[in-house]
Amino acid sequence: MSQKQIGVLVGSLRAGSYCRAVANAAIELAPASLTLRMLEIGDLPLYNQDFDDNKTQPEAYVRFRAEIASLDGFLFVTPEYNRSFPAALKNALDVASRPYGHNAWNGKPGAIISATLGTMGAVSANLALRHPMVFLNVPIMQQPEAYIGKVDSLLDEHGKLTNASTRKFLQTYMEAFERWVHTISDAH
Ligand SMILES: Cc1cc2nc3c(=O)[nH]c(=O)nc-3n(C[C@H](O)[C@H](O)[C@H](O)COP(=O)(O)O)c2cc1C
Repeated sequence: MSQKQIGVLVGSLRAGSYCRAVANAAIELAPASLTLRMLEIGDLPLYNQDFDDNKTQPEAYVRFRAEIASLDGFLFVTPEYNRSFPAALKNALDVASRPYGHNAWNGKPGAIISATLGTMGAVSANLALRHPMVFLNVPIMQQPEAYIGKVDSLLDEHGKLTNASTRKFLQTYMEAFERWVHTISDAH
């Protein structure tokens, strides 16, 4: 299998983010043909079309668009904010979808993991994040789904995701994602 470069986007900007801990575990447990790296979205100014129309794009846009364009697929790990996914993540999607005709996400495979302190696994955020993927043309893995509830109870005192059954699940999830990435990549 050829090596695939995967960007990991975390919807939370919080220093002690539980979603980031989940993302780190997913990276650690991923199969060998996936090289995963964390992408930063917190430095992206709110999308304003004037930047593109006037060709005054912020340096962070230039960097992020080039990063997205260079990657083979994406893993999104998102918390739920008021029954949807956080604005920071939507902003990142918008930034790399423009200027018009230059959608850097186009055709690349993705997968979504959601996590929350609550009991419902941030299912609303997870499903809401699938909505923009239709227009961005990011084919999202359908199964297995990953809704992680009570995420704080799955970490050790250092903030590492240590819960054995969750780690086993994430490993299985990442193996499925590996198959998905190669299936979609081979189809292009
Ligand atoms: C603005 C805001 C809205 C939230 N809304 C929800 C929600 O709708 N559903 C939910 O399960 N948790 C909600 N939460 C709690 C988050 O799941 C919790 O803060 C979680 O730890 C955030 O992820 P992080 O640890 O990666 O920052 C909300 C938190 C914030 C800050």
